[in-house]
Amino acid sequence: MRDVAVIGVGMNRWGELWNVAIRDLLAESVLKALDDAGIDSVEAMYIGCMTSGLFTDQEHLGAIGPDYSGICPVPGTRVESACASGGAAFRAAYMHVASGTADIVMAAGVEKMTDVDGGGATFALATAADQEYEVYNGITFPGLYAMMANHHMNKYGTTRDQLAQVSVKNHANGYNNELAQFRMKVTLDQVKNSVMVADPMTLLDCSPITDGSAAVILCSLDKAKEITRKRVVKVVGSGHASDTIQLAQRDDLSYLKSTELAAKQALDMAGKKITDIDFAEVHDCFSIAEIMVIEALGIAKVGKGGPATMDGVTAIDGMFPVNPSGGLKSKGHPVGATGVAQIVELTEQIRGDLDKNRQLKKANIGLAQNMGGSGASSVVHILEGV
Ligand code: COA
Repeated sequence: MRDVAVIGVGMNRWGELWNVAIRDLLAESVLKALDDAGIDSVEAMYIGCMTSGLFTDQEHLGAIGPDYSGICPVPGTRVESACASGGAAFRAAYMHVASGTADIVMAAGVEKMTDVDGGGATFALATAADQEYEVYNGITFPGLYAMMANHHMNKYGTTRDQLAQVSVKNHANGYNNELAQFRMKVTLDQVKNSVMVADPMTLLDCSPITDGSAAVILCSLDKAKEITRKRVVKVVGSGHASDTIQLAQRDDLSYLKSTELAAKQALDMAGKKITDIDFAEVHDCFSIAEIMVIEALGIAKVGKGGPATMDGVTAIDGMFPVNPSGGLKSKGHPVGATGVAQIVELTEQIRGDLDKNRQLKKANIGLAQNMGGSGASSVVHILEGV
């Protein structure tokens, strides 16, 4: 295995983009990433996408990607791991370069979710849960996370305000991100009083339905130093783990074992402890998810993710900033693109590329955690500026 760096990133403005086809959505970020790296092609492309067939009737993104980005005959492969598809695509691209079989490889991600109505989106997303034991009995994704939230509240005394504070924090961060879908600040009362989706998760506890894409370019470290004039951002850790797809089969409903294990792999590979990391982008698909993720990563003690959030530990100016981009909650969650967009944020923070109002003071080492389903898969990466 050889050292690998990120040398180019690109992302479009996320939102409800009815006038853009999925092919153009993907190509926009791909072309931006190529431009950022100062190159005009790559040797291979991995595309994270959960379910373009159900959302847009379009499969075969491994061909659509290179074709509409104008880089044929580059081989393209679609990677699917539900909402962790983007993180898994990045890991595949990383492995490809690390193995020495290619020098420059792209990881992209896309999902165009608003071409179907709310019921269609709920159906498509629920295909990431266990159909026979969960979905056929009426569960939806907000319902699964609501069960985890109720368990966490009963077991640890996590409060409604602590859950809502995740959304308040992430919307405050996303307010300064010009590419975010929902750039508005919200208060605790607004979150708690917004329409109920699945008790206790209200509308403002949920990530939205989003059209969006993101792309990053990976390169062997030696070559990266020749190509880029920007700060070289090295991939120092990569981890991937799974858990039972069915929530009922877990030892603990409100603990994300796959996240703990993926993080352990990535940290061991990097030779680091969680306290060595400066900031993280994590999978806050619902407010409770961020609380469980920071516990599984060791940013907060198990059961103390709620108080840590309330005390400002994970705020942008806190001890361990989490989701400076606005996270899935404010930036949006086009499922296949989310994991790649986390790498875009890590890279830009580490390079110091961002506007003053959202550039972190200390951003040399960042961690990205991307999760599939209700935690059945988890991918963690650690990036460091060199
Ligand atoms: N946060 C903030 N505002 C939101 C929002 C969100 N998550 N979702 C929708 N809105 C806003 C819309 O802009 C719209 O505002 P407007 O009336 O001012 O135009 C309003 O709320 C209603 O939007 P609508 O699209 O009708 O909402 P919906 O009821 O169809 O969907 C959810 C809301 C929460 C059910 C949907 O966003 C959802 O399912 N989210 C979870 C996605 C998910 O499970 N992802 C996978 C996770 S692993």
